[in-house]
Amino acid sequence: MKILTPFLVVVVLAAIAFFGVEVLQLQLLFGVVIPYLCLALFVIGFIYRIVRWGRSAVPFRIPTTAGQEKSLPWIKANKLDNPSSKAGVFVRMLLEVLVFRSLFRNIKVEKHQDRLVFASAKWLWLGALAFHWSFLIILIRHLGLFMDPIAPFVQILQSGDSFLQIGLPALFITDVVVLTALSYLFLRRVVIPRIRYISLPADYLALLLLIAIVLSGILMRYGFKVDMLAVKEFALGLATFTPQVTEGIGAIFYVHLFLVSVLFAYFPLSKLMHAGGIFFSPTRNMANNNRAVRHVNPWNYPVKVHTYEEYEDDFREKMKKAGIPVDRSE
Ligand code: HEM
Repeated sequence: MKILTPFLVVVVLAAIAFFGVEVLQLQLLFGVVIPYLCLALFVIGFIYRIVRWGRSAVPFRIPTTAGQEKSLPWIKANKLDNPSSKAGVFVRMLLEVLVFRSLFRNIKVEKHQDRLVFASAKWLWLGALAFHWSFLIILIRHLGLFMDPIAPFVQILQSGDSFLQIGLPALFITDVVVLTALSYLFLRRVVIPRIRYISLPADYLALLLLIAIVLSGILMRYGFKVDMLAVKEFALGLATFTPQVTEGIGAIFYVHLFLVSVLFAYFPLSKLMHAGGIFFSPTRNMANNNRAVRHVNPWNYPVKVHTYEEYEDDFREKMKKAGIPVDRSE
């Protein structure tokens, strides 16, 4: 059920857009109103969550320390896995965001003849990296739809991505990579029993929604071709806030756009927010200088303390009678 329900949700979403445009002719609703609304939800929701994370208390220094800490001069510190400066944290974060370094360090533990064996596990890292990078390239390529003329960096990306020159329209390498990576990430949660056990419907929903977006895009490019001139005119209208419904765009385009809109609206409510959250993770964004610098909890309030001297003043006579040594005799 936890796989079937999100699957049905995505199918129903696609069917709603198809029916709404093909039968009810609601191009304005699915092409203009819903995309703008969902984009607004995305921007407001994203900012709201970032601001809330930014304002939440971080009273303790809890950096991830996955290497030798900086200490005595003759002990070699691991500057990347245990950074002691802001510059070190910046480089660690950059590598985390760009190449998912901590995922690369992922290992698996298996039991072989009553012994625990640790082994390398790189497939998840590879699948995640392939998905995120191809997704980013596809998004940047899509910017071309909203530009006239198309900026050179988008053109370079478009021709680089289709340099294999297979078929007409030319096959984009990222289309193959993103679909393969998403299929792997999905199947991993279905096939491996332990991963299936800890997976939630929301995990499947995000992946299935992305797969549906990619499939509808691929269908549009290589299958039921849409009138790209009409799409371009329509997209430019959206980008310049002078939207108009252009005739002759197939329903598949609206299905694609509707699924993208749902993804955008869902983004701030979901675990997809890890895209922004990573920068706020205290274990990642803190330098480990705990021994060099005294960090005082900024939320500390003045506490009334009872010093040893005061304690002794209170109990001196009793302590003397019991033979307990005292600092001052009176
Ligand atoms: C999360 C956002 C999106 C994703 C992941 C996505 C994904 C894709 C993919 C994988 C394709 C296949 C061909 C290619 O790679 O270019 C595609 C095609 C297409 N997408 Fe998207 N898309 C997104 C947003 C949009 C938006 C917002 C629009 C329009 C306003 C759009 C319009 C199109 C069109 C017209 C095509 C066909 C392109 C062609 O025939 O060359 N997409 N999309």
